[in-house]
Amino acid sequence: MAHIIDGKAIAADIRRELAEKTAELKQTRGITPGLGLLLVGDNPASQSYVRSKEKACAELGYHSVVLRWPEDAGEEQILEQVRAWNEDDSIHGILVQLPLPRHVDEQRVLLAISPRKDVDGFHPENVGRLVTGLPGFVPCTPAGIMELLTRSNVPTKGRHVVVVGRSNIVGKPMANLLYQKHSRANAVVTICHTGADDISYYTRQADILIAAVGVPHLIKASDVKDGVVVIDVGVNQVQDATAPKGRRLVGDVDFDSVAPKASAITPVPGGVGPMTIAMLLSNTFRSAIGEVFRA
Ligand SMILES: NC(=O)c1ccc[n+]([C@@H]2O[C@H](COP(=O)([O-])OP(=O)(O)OC[C@H]3O[C@@H](n4cnc5c(N)ncnc54)[C@H](OP(=O)(O)O)[C@@H]3O)[C@@H](O)[C@H]2O)c1
Repeated sequence: MAHIIDGKAIAADIRRELAEKTAELKQTRGITPGLGLLLVGDNPASQSYVRSKEKACAELGYHSVVLRWPEDAGEEQILEQVRAWNEDDSIHGILVQLPLPRHVDEQRVLLAISPRKDVDGFHPENVGRLVTGLPGFVPCTPAGIMELLTRSNVPTKGRHVVVVGRSNIVGKPMANLLYQKHSRANAVVTICHTGADDISYYTRQADILIAAVGVPHLIKASDVKDGVVVIDVGVNQVQDATAPKGRRLVGDVDFDSVAPKASAITPVPGGVGPMTIAMLLSNTFRSAIGEVFRA
């Protein structure tokens, strides 16, 4: 049976480390990491994400400003807030919770965030920095997966990593991180998507398989080879009459059939999910100490 990569425990370690470093930073340099969070509308999932982020900031002793605006908030009002945070020295990270309401041009808002405070790593400048191997902010979910691999002692050098999914927030940055020429990466990477006729042909060749698809249980035992390391990014709600609310969360990987073949695997929930907020906190800390754009 596979080693279960416990993202909850690893994320808790990172949060503990950050809490210690934050206390020291306040004492030695008088700096409190600050995060500005803007939520527009009443999407229940977004509300829950923002609550978790707010709570995590409080736990670590960060300064956080959380704005919850109604669905009909205007694009100009949002842009003005972003610009105000860009100029605010107490705010080191800016996060506009996505998705934004339809009448708002999401790209325009993301472009307005200063790349130096773009702790989500979605600004094209940070995307360019990632691709070219320059220091910058890396999107939180793939950054969290790199931490999971490192802290679980999964070597990547020369390993064949197959990433299923090519979204801008997970698949693409994940692939870009993994093929970089440095000691924590240096993998050979294949990216699969709906353009592939038979994704199983590729996934069966993976030493490390990263599924970021959004299709419940897409990856079955027959899609992986023995000894594979599996990172399941998917978070999918499925009906389950036996679950308390009649539904439960499952990943993109059929855990029960794949785990016996894998050497290590992340569960859903409790795998990749907790790492995302931990890396948001880490990015905000790195911004506060001015580490990111030194080079
Ligand atoms: N745990 C976390 O913190 C976290 C964070 C972010 C996302 N997620 C979860 O991760 C999953 C993916 O998220 P996302 O934002 O990357 O999703 P997304 O933007 O919908 O992208 C999904 C990707 O999967 C590909 N795909 C879909 N069906 C496929 C199939 N049958 N075969 C091969 N490729 C297929 C799509 O290909 P095309 O490009 O060809 O359409 C696309 O590139 C979702 O379940 C999401 O909830 C979790």
